[in-house]
Amino acid sequence: MIDQEVVFTNDISKALGQFAVKIPHDVLYLLFDTETIKYCMPVIADFMNGYDAKHPDSKCKTIIIGNTDAAKNIATLTEVWQTLSDTGASRHSLMINVGGGMLTDLGGFAAATFKRGIKFINVPTTLLGAVDAAVGGKTGVNLGNLKNELGAFAPASAVLISTTMFETLDQENLLSGYAEMLKHGFLSDNETLTELLNYDILHWDKDTLLPMLEKSVNVKRRVVRQDPYEQGLRKALNLGHTFGHAFESWRLSQGKPVLHGYAVAWGLVCELIVSHQVCGFPSALMQQVAAYVRDTYGPVHFTCDDYDALYELMTHDKKNEAGEIYCSLLHDVGSVALNHSLSKEQILTTYDIFRDLMGI
Ligand code: GLY
Repeated sequence: MIDQEVVFTNDISKALGQFAVKIPHDVLYLLFDTETIKYCMPVIADFMNGYDAKHPDSKCKTIIIGNTDAAKNIATLTEVWQTLSDTGASRHSLMINVGGGMLTDLGGFAAATFKRGIKFINVPTTLLGAVDAAVGGKTGVNLGNLKNELGAFAPASAVLISTTMFETLDQENLLSGYAEMLKHGFLSDNETLTELLNYDILHWDKDTLLPMLEKSVNVKRRVVRQDPYEQGLRKALNLGHTFGHAFESWRLSQGKPVLHGYAVAWGLVCELIVSHQVCGFPSALMQQVAAYVRDTYGPVHFTCDDYDALYELMTHDKKNEAGEIYCSLLHDVGSVALNHSLSKEQILTTYDIFRDLMGI
């Protein structure tokens, strides 16, 4: 897989202008959702307004899709393909995906499959999208309730990351993205993790967040470069997600959905508990992070009566093999233990300890 160009900038219109020249194309498609067309299109208005003058031989068209995960499906994908086809897209067209993870996943898959693949650029508009979904080449849509069941590894030609896109994000969405930054902190070193635990993300500013984001995204890029198709090392990026996905699905089934990053934050605590027990991860740090997650994200409330339902959801995790639940653990910050199989007993004990640490 070709390494993606990832640009960190607080002048997104200028960066788009440069890439529109660098990647020759006949038609330019800008894919927005119903929210990003309102809140993020103005941030790139300079690029859009100047486009026709700079590209007299090309046209710029806009496609708008729904903005919820419910729209991340084959019907929306077909709409995008159909619009591309009806409006004269060719193999030399270029697509720019302006949105969160749902949009960059779907737009990337639409581009990767239209006429066997056209080039695309991701412009993530959420912190979660910037730090995770937009980078690394995973694209796809859901099939019914199965998340990302259909997809392809297809890297964007470029990912343009700007914190100016986050100015309209609410606190919950900022915290949701920050959980993935914390995950990358655990995969790097103590200094980076400490910086993250001490940073006040709810009062972020572009001069401090942008370099932290760059460091964080580069953790993912290093991993993806070594293992683009998730045969081994890339599984480290699932840290927090084995328990986290179960919390996410469980809360959804209870009619109390949570943002992905909240579930990942709770999942991280659970996986640090297991890491401590199985791999000797330092207990003091595990407790410090549990207190951080409790105070920042709040606890997830569940009782022993919910253990079976949560465990059952963990048995459906995509990473499981031959009926075994697998998890990425840590010996210490930056030292990953891949492919640990977890017994039911270990998982239930972890729920007990987690509830103690969260004070529930
Ligand atoms: N979200 C984890 C990965 O891209 O591998």
